[in-house]
Amino acid sequence: MTEKKSSSWQDPVVALKFLDERRGAIPFGPEQVGVMLRLVRHFRPEPRHILDLGCGDGFLARALLAEYPQASAVLVDHSEPMLERARLAMATDADRCEIVHGDLRVPLAEFAGRAHADLVVSGFAIHHLPHARKYSLYAEIFDLLAAGGLFINIEHVASVSSEVEALYDAVYIDHISSWTGKDRALVDAEYHGRADKADNILEPVNVQVDWLRKIGFVHADCYFKWFELAVFGGVKP
Ligand SMILES: C[S@@+](CC[C@H](N)C(=O)[O-])C[C@H]1O[C@@H](n2cnc3c(N)ncnc32)[C@H](O)[C@@H]1O
Repeated sequence: MTEKKSSSWQDPVVALKFLDERRGAIPFGPEQVGVMLRLVRHFRPEPRHILDLGCGDGFLARALLAEYPQASAVLVDHSEPMLERARLAMATDADRCEIVHGDLRVPLAEFAGRAHADLVVSGFAIHHLPHARKYSLYAEIFDLLAAGGLFINIEHVASVSSEVEALYDAVYIDHISSWTGKDRALVDAEYHGRADKADNILEPVNVQVDWLRKIGFVHADCYFKWFELAVFGGVKP
């Protein structure tokens, strides 16, 4: 399949630092997954075919497969170190997982197949795409979903102003420092110097929810938000 220019996520140091130090420290991480599971239970209570875009080690797919023993999942990522960790972390569910090397910058049909999905999820991945590609990806997700299918994006979104962005950075650094026990100044330096920061292309959540509505999703909304961390999505009618 087509592979465009690399991103920092293909660097094993960046990938493993995220998995081993940052994933668990995401503020309200369990609550975000809880909101996702609650939405699934309401809108698509018996999902069979799940797609996890930018899966990392399969954090979201694992939560869904644990909840839905009859479901299978396709996990997509373009980072080989992430995919290696996904193969390990998903080993107990290997019989109902397909782990695919795919780049979200190219059309989904190139790697996600054309079979309809009941549920498409993504965690902190789509904000790495340019805005025009975010929009076209959302439209491709809409096309791929079965009628009544659900899309949920747990995502890093833009602050309303640089002042609120600075406040978000400060509270996030406080959070990582207390979660890891590391000195705050060290966390601050690591946070602001992190290699993947340059890959962030943030867009406000209200803009993205409007895109989903324009594409045709119903019940499209931001269901949870804490500063720059949001859970949003919608249902294909
Ligand atoms: C912050 S991590 C999140 C991983 C996982 N979804 C989670 O919630 O823990 C972002 C993931 O998006 C993937 N990613 C970024 N850009 C991508 C692209 N263009 N195509 C496929 N995956 C991408 C990265 O490799 C990385 O695994």
